[in-house]
Amino acid sequence: MAIEINAISHRYENQDGSRVFQALGEVSLSIAAGSFVCLLGPSGCGKTTLLRIANGLVRPSHGEVRIDGVRVDGPAANRAMVFQEFNLLPWRTALGNVEFPLELQGVAKARRADLAQRALAQVGLERFADFYPHKLSGGMKQRVGLARAFGVAPTYLFMDEPFGALDPQIRELMQIDLLKLLETDMKTVLFVTHSVDEAVFLADRVIMFGGSPGQVIADIDIDLPRPRWQDDEAIKTSPRFTEYRNDIWRRLKRQLA
Ligand SMILES: Nc1ncnc2c1ncn2[C@@H]1O[C@H](COP(=O)(O)OP(=O)(O)OP(=O)(O)O)[C@@H](O)[C@H]1O
Ligand SMILES: [Mg+2]
Repeated sequence: MAIEINAISHRYENQDGSRVFQALGEVSLSIAAGSFVCLLGPSGCGKTTLLRIANGLVRPSHGEVRIDGVRVDGPAANRAMVFQEFNLLPWRTALGNVEFPLELQGVAKARRADLAQRALAQVGLERFADFYPHKLSGGMKQRVGLARAFGVAPTYLFMDEPFGALDPQIRELMQIDLLKLLETDMKTVLFVTHSVDEAVFLADRVIMFGGSPGQVIADIDIDLPRPRWQDDEAIKTSPRFTEYRNDIWRRLKRQLA
């Protein structure tokens, strides 16, 4: 297994220990190499927390994550994260933002610019390379975040509601673009979303979270043919797609009831 999440739990606390909040109960998951896994669940159930732990940005209170057999204890060059809140550097242009992690990795200047340009082109933003974040729309910022993640050619991609800020039409196009990108350049993806349709369309497996502290409440294999982007309408209107969607909705409603 590529990613092993072993009995992780997490408690946020103030520096002085005055306020303690149990965000994640005990979570264990094994994620296969090359698979696309969606995490779905109500707000506040610990999805972002789990993603940050898996990527080494947050140290869990208990348990451990192993990636390719190695214990995660910080960020690594073969992993990239697309953040829920973009996290762009306001004093850098779109290109400068995409170059940033390459710079941290010590990639030479000319090569860096070349890789960053290519990544921006992949998300349709080549003409906006010189724009600063405050001149970009929410959707464009999100795409810069996506380009920044793809620019480092990661093996593991952690995506936290990457399309949450997009309008529904652009969102569907971005889903298709993402599937196309992954087809030529396979990665293991952990993708958080609030959208049931998005999860079923993209994923090989949907892991449903719920409760507070958050835990896994369902783990559903999505057995739909790939590639899914070629005839996305046929996939989305197929009886099996509808069955998955209804099943997941029913479970979600039970959570929220
Ligand atoms: N840095 C922090 N310090 C204290 N509590 C936190 C911190 N980050 C998150 N929490 C709390 O932990 C819980 C889980 O947060 P998390 O961001 O992981 O949820 P989520 O499932 O990603 O929610 P959403 O769908 O709204 O993004 C929430 O109750 C939140 O208030
Ligand atoms: Mg979140």
